[in-house]
Amino acid sequence: MAMMEWNDKLKVGHSMIDRDHQKLVGLINELGDAMSAGKGKDVCGKVLDELISYTKTHFAMEEQLMSANRYPAAALHKAEHVKLVQDVVDFQSKYNAGTATLSVSLLHFLMEWLTHHILESDKALAQEIPRG
Ligand SMILES: [Fe+2]
Ligand SMILES: [Fe+2]
Repeated sequence: MAMMEWNDKLKVGHSMIDRDHQKLVGLINELGDAMSAGKGKDVCGKVLDELISYTKTHFAMEEQLMSANRYPAAALHKAEHVKLVQDVVDFQSKYNAGTATLSVSLLHFLMEWLTHHILESDKALAQEIPRG
């Protein structure tokens, strides 16, 4: 069962950004599925790696769009990206070291973060740049 539903309300109207967000939602669901199916640490860890690496790629793409378009609110937006990456990388190292486990609350945190960030920050960005 999908943890997070992709729907039109999450669309910001920029095809590259929307495609990435849809992929991120898919990866969060994959992580939730692996977790609830009781998959081992190797499988869950691999999905977590993929989610983090795709997130970094996606943030870099958005930040590239910000620079290319001299987006005025870039600093604040980038700070949100940096904070999230720090938090998840921090979790990942604890997970790999065996001092943290995947939990429903982590998935909820990721879903809430992504939803909020898309609706607030990414929508605002998409309104200021040419549609792509
Ligand atoms: Fe963003
Ligand atoms: Fe985004």
